[in-house]
Amino acid sequence: DKGSYRHYMLKEIYEQPRVLAETLEGRLSRDRVLPEVFGPDAGAVFDQVQRIQIVACGTSNHAGMIARYWFESLAGLPCDVEVASEYRYRPHVVSPGTLFVTISQSGETADSLAALREVKSQAKHLATLAICNVAESSLVRESDLVLMTRAGPEIGVASTKAFTTQLAALLLLVIALGRRHAMTADTEARLVEGLHALPALIDRVLQMDADIAKLSEAFADKHHSLFLGRGPLYPVAMEGALKLKEISYIHAEAYPAGELKHGPLALVDAEMPVVAVAPNDELMEKLKSNLQEVQARGGQLFVFADERTTFEDSPGLRLVSVPAVDDALAAVVYTVPLQLLAYHVALLKGTDVDKPRNLAKSVTVE
Ligand code: M6R
Repeated sequence: DKGSYRHYMLKEIYEQPRVLAETLEGRLSRDRVLPEVFGPDAGAVFDQVQRIQIVACGTSNHAGMIARYWFESLAGLPCDVEVASEYRYRPHVVSPGTLFVTISQSGETADSLAALREVKSQAKHLATLAICNVAESSLVRESDLVLMTRAGPEIGVASTKAFTTQLAALLLLVIALGRRHAMTADTEARLVEGLHALPALIDRVLQMDADIAKLSEAFADKHHSLFLGRGPLYPVAMEGALKLKEISYIHAEAYPAGELKHGPLALVDAEMPVVAVAPNDELMEKLKSNLQEVQARGGQLFVFADERTTFEDSPGLRLVSVPAVDDALAAVVYTVPLQLLAYHVALLKGTDVDKPRNLAKSVTVE
């Protein structure tokens, strides 16, 4: 039931504070991730993990790409991510102690399931772990370890709350493994504090809705757009681009901001809006110079930036302030305005938001 919301997608975007809180419920103390979160067998497995291999599709793959940054920067664990349709058909070298992680909202995505089955038949991985939203799904039944997201049913084909709850779940895994490797108790406490604050922070981000609706007018008559981010915000840019193309049918491409000069800058003109997600981290200054390059070519820039960041006022630049957030959680927070942007552009274009053309909610055939 959509309740008072015009679309399931909008309802699901607005449910994020609540379902994030539910996904964390009973899994955290004040400053720690509770050890029993991954089930009674997890501890013995986790002690042996030396490396992570994540496999997923679509939006779930973007969650995996963000987690890769977290595993390497926060946990000191090497992590690879690959889309399931590629992984399943490729011979691989599996290092000892590799934990195989699948991420899926439905738990029935054909390629993700096939990759899991292939891995199990080869028995080269230490164990398999699924992060999933459907308890009765094949992926959950067939994995050694499971961490459920508690997003509730997601009806909109464009995944929203499943994604942000996957990120919260992944951060629990990063912490649970990280404390066995490079993560200090202080870092764990800082991250857990951030997780506790996350639902309220997302509530604040949702208050940006009216401003983003206004911004969306600049996209409705465009045919192409570019999304830029760096570090963990690069997969966030990819996710923003995927949302926009799925429901508004506007071609949207994401690039790591540093790649701009290596090709895509040639496309930039007044007809090509450029969206950048720019939290206040060490890459901010570099991103600023990328943005100047866009402006110099008459490009229209839409920058989602930390409220503490200042940009010189200039024509062609629209700055949208995002509440300040710990670097580690920026990926979750910056996703939400991009979901809203895609939603409002789709509304203006009059597309079938919840059931975009040619797409199915769950891709159960190859
Ligand atoms: O159920 P899954 O998470 O395995 O689905 C994977 C993709 O099919 C899914 O995320 C798809 O990309 C969404 N439509 C994106 O909004």
